[in-house]
Order: sequence, then structure tokens, then C-alpha cells
Amino acid sequence: MTTPALFTPLTLRGVTLKNRIAVSPMCQYSATDGVPNDWHFVHLGRFAIGGAGLVMVEATAVEAEGRITHGDLGLWNDEQQGRLARIAAFLKSQGAVPAIQIGHAGRKASTHRPFEGGHPITTENARPGESAWQTVAPSAIPFADGYHTPRALTVEEIHGLTAKFVDSAKRALAAGFEVLEIHGAHGYLLTEFLSPISNHRSDQYGGDFQGRTRFLLETVEAVRAVWPDDKPLFVRLSTVDGTPGGWSLEDSVVLAGELKARGVDVIDSSSGGLTPSMETANRPAPLYQTPYAEAVRRDAGIATMAVGLITQPQEAEAIIADGQADIVALGRAMLENPNWAQDAKAALDPEHIGDDAWPLATGYAVKSLKGFKAKRGLA
Ligand SMILES: Cc1cc2nc3c(=O)[nH]c(=O)nc-3n(C[C@H](O)[C@H](O)[C@H](O)COP(=O)(O)O)c2cc1C
Repeated sequence: MTTPALFTPLTLRGVTLKNRIAVSPMCQYSATDGVPNDWHFVHLGRFAIGGAGLVMVEATAVEAEGRITHGDLGLWNDEQQGRLARIAAFLKSQGAVPAIQIGHAGRKASTHRPFEGGHPITTENARPGESAWQTVAPSAIPFADGYHTPRALTVEEIHGLTAKFVDSAKRALAAGFEVLEIHGAHGYLLTEFLSPISNHRSDQYGGDFQGRTRFLLETVEAVRAVWPDDKPLFVRLSTVDGTPGGWSLEDSVVLAGELKARGVDVIDSSSGGLTPSMETANRPAPLYQTPYAEAVRRDAGIATMAVGLITQPQEAEAIIADGQADIVALGRAMLENPNWAQDAKAALDPEHIGDDAWPLATGYAVKSLKGFKAKRGLA
């Protein structure tokens, strides 16, 4: 039997993923002052032990005001960088490529953690020491009724934020990350500039496609200039807003071409998030976003990462084998089973499980257990 496509390595610039399985960035809302702690170390570390080829740290804010909640990670100071470096080193020691997503929450900032209701913070509902802050966006249009009305950024402030993305990129490099992803999805700041629904500016950062994409493209150019040539740069896009008159898949294909020309290596193809009604579009369907990854890959000629209710090894295998995407990213399925990659390997390639798929310290013992279980006819 040949190696399953899901377990073939992928080289992007000077970085090789041992397989095509990525852990999608997932906010834990469990940091203090943006600093990761033991929770983040164990949470992320178990995915590397579990055999994923790439493990991406959650949306990490480039400035304090760019956090969704008070519990978000940040990467604007030395303490944050130092703690992230410990995580990156461990991921790498287990054979996973350490990746990090940097972003800014824009008008969706200043809310409670989802497991505390997720509502905007107000003076009435603020927890001790966790007051609300002024949110920012391309235009002073709230995400939804009851949400903070953001302040429209000045051109000078937009330039200042690009500089903050650059600073976080430099810190990510110093912390040992090998893949950097810019968060241009889910209705956060960069998406808000892209979509005509949230961007009503009349200056050079709004209006037509060129104006609305300027902030993202300038930020990508500036980040690429400090992110080394031998390290891949990903951009996560909401490939569709999901509403007439909004950002379309055709827009994403054109933008992906522009991003490729500026040195982006992979489009992480997500969708939605710009307004509450667009947050849940299509979500219940398995593989609901894979067609977007396929279209961007085919029409823009750039590598893509597919994400969204990919849960079955055979389905993930087909996505790679059929050329719909180059990498599959899993979110919730990894939370449910951090050993998803190990189990997929066993399911797709039972003759070649081998200790190599497991860390040295536990692989031989797991193998002996598998032997006992096999004798009893158990999986
Ligand atoms: C708990 C949780 C936190 C998430 N945080 C982020 C994030 O930090 N950045 C991001 O781009 N997407 C985030 N997402 C979206 C996931 O990365 C992923 O795209 C989405 O869950 C769909 O994949 P799935 O069906 O495999 O879970 C989050 C999802 C979950 C469930």
C-alpha cells in the first residue's frame, strides 16, 4: 500500500510539514494580560504529541485593544514572546511545525469570553478589573445591535497598525515560530476593511476593491519584508461574506492572486463572521468550506488549507488526494481527540503504524497495548 496522501510531507519554502494535518487556530480566552500560561502549553503540546504536522497558536493580538476578550493572547511585549517561545520549542521538539496566527479584533473587540456569554462588555456587566475599551474599525458601524460602535481609524492609525503587525511578526520569529498566519477572516479588523458591508470609507482605504484590500496588502508586504524568505506566510480569509453585495468568492480569488504576488504561500480558506447572520451560514454541513479552498487553489494557483467540519480520516484523505487543498485544518475534532492524527494514520495505513507516529517516550508502550487489543479483536 502506498503512503496515504494525508501523510505525505509538504515543503513550503524551507519548512517541511511531516503530514498534511494542521490544528486550526483556536482562542482559549485563558490568558492574563495576553500572556500564555500552562494551559496553552499543555493544550497546544498535546496536538504535537498527537502527531499533527502543523500546530497553530490561536489568534494572537498585535495590540491590547486588538483582543476579542481580556483572555486573548497577545504578542506585543517580551513576556508574551518568552512564554510563546517555550511553546514553539516544545511543538518543534515533537516534530510539529510551530505556527502562530496574528490579528486584530477590530469592531468585534471588547467582549466577554464566549463561555461567559460573549456579550459586549458594559459598565454594568464588567468583571472586576476587566472594563470595556473603545473599539476601532474602517467605519463607525457596529457588528450588530447592542455591540460597541467602533471609531473609524485615521490613515495614520492604519499605518500604525501595520507597524504593529510587523512588530508581532518579528517577535513571532524571535520566539521560534516557523509559519506565520495573518488573520484576515471572521469579521475581525482586516476583514472589516475588505467587505463593502463594513467598510464605507471614501479615502484610499475604502471604496473599490483596490481601496478595500489596501490595508491587508500593505500589511502583508510589510510583514513579508521581515518574515524570512525561507519561512512560509499564510493568510486566513473569509472567502465569502455569504450575503449579496458582500465579499464574494470571486473577490477572494483575485485577492489570493495579489497575496501570492506579495509572497503569501497558503490561503487558509474559511468563511463568514462579518455579521451575526453570516456567522453560522452553512456551518452544520460536513466539509462546508472545502469548496472554497478548492476554488481558490484552482483559480488563483496558490496552495490552500481547507477547514470546517473535517472530521473523518477518509474525507481528509480525499481532500488532499483529489487536489482540493494542500493541507487540512481541524478545530473541534482536535479538541475532542488530540490524537486525531495518530488515529487517522492507523485508520488509513494500518500496516505502517510504526512507533514513528508516536513520541519515543510512549510509542513502544502504545504499540504493545495495540498488540494486546488486537488479540482480543478490539480496535
Ligand atoms: C474554540 C474555538 C476557537 C476558535 N478560535 C479561532 C481563532 O483564534 N482564529 C481563527 O481564525 N479561527 C478560530 N476558530 C475557528 C476554527 O479555527 C475553525 O476554522 C472552525 O472551528 C471550523 O473548523 P472545525 O469544524 O474543524 O472546528 C475557533 C473555533 C473554535 C471552536
